[in-house]
Amino acid sequence: MAEPLLTLRDVKAWYGPSQALHGASLEVHEGELLTLLGRNGAGKSTLLKSIMGMIDKRQGSIRFKGKELIGLAPHHIGRLGVAFCPDDRGIYASLTVRENLRLPPVVAEGGMSEAELFELFPNLAQRAGSAGTHLSGGEQQMLAIARILRTGARMLLLDEPTEGLAPVIVDRIGDLIRQLKERGYTIVLVEQNVHFAAELADRHCLMESGRITDTFDATTLLRDFDAITARIGV
Ligand SMILES: Nc1ncnc2c1ncn2[C@@H]1O[C@H](COP(=O)(O)OP(=O)(O)OP(=O)(O)O)[C@@H](O)[C@H]1O
Ligand SMILES: [Mg+2]
Repeated sequence: MAEPLLTLRDVKAWYGPSQALHGASLEVHEGELLTLLGRNGAGKSTLLKSIMGMIDKRQGSIRFKGKELIGLAPHHIGRLGVAFCPDDRGIYASLTVRENLRLPPVVAEGGMSEAELFELFPNLAQRAGSAGTHLSGGEQQMLAIARILRTGARMLLLDEPTEGLAPVIVDRIGDLIRQLKERGYTIVLVEQNVHFAAELADRHCLMESGRITDTFDATTLLRDFDAITARIGV
């Protein structure tokens, strides 16, 4: 099997004095769609932020395309083609949709043009001149994802993109993520909605107390659904 695109080995992370990751290890292969499942506080967001270099105190090893990320600043990691979509979506309220889209720098060739993005997200096209504050939750989520697709990053870290959204919008986000997988993106998706995750991903990783404690393929998740969801606490 080919080298993993991303390899985490025994990653530890701290917020000030308090330790949030306790030795997390994980491999992600190119083109894979992997979910991180786990209870509130298990360390899912911290794991994504650690990959992105957004946690100051980290130990262990995070290798992306053979390059060690621990010690690199977030903008350097972004330039390697990794992009993070935070759970608060990070939309600037006073900027328009188009201005929000143009904010992050393009880091690699092959990013989607504004025209392609507006084709993929027709409702954003209609609202191109509207301020961020005037968007619905679902539109803000679409904008947050569209914004990182423009950068050319091929490794996407998505933190709970369906949180708080109506079922019909959740379905649309699911379709979108499926399309991105078909286009060859590598995706790590944090998701509390296990039904949603089960239908999408190749592999599921369970996080407990700052570690990855189990990995399941899609078939196993469906077969042992009740036992696994009990461990996730949903
Ligand atoms: N900014 C912070 N400062 C201090 N501690 C934090 C901070 N953010 C998270 N933590 C702590 O780190 C641990 C892991 O939190 P994290 O946000 O990574 O969990 P999570 O799995 O994403 O949870 P959720 O499902 O609620 O989003 C928790 O104990 C949390 O209280
Ligand atoms: Mg979180």
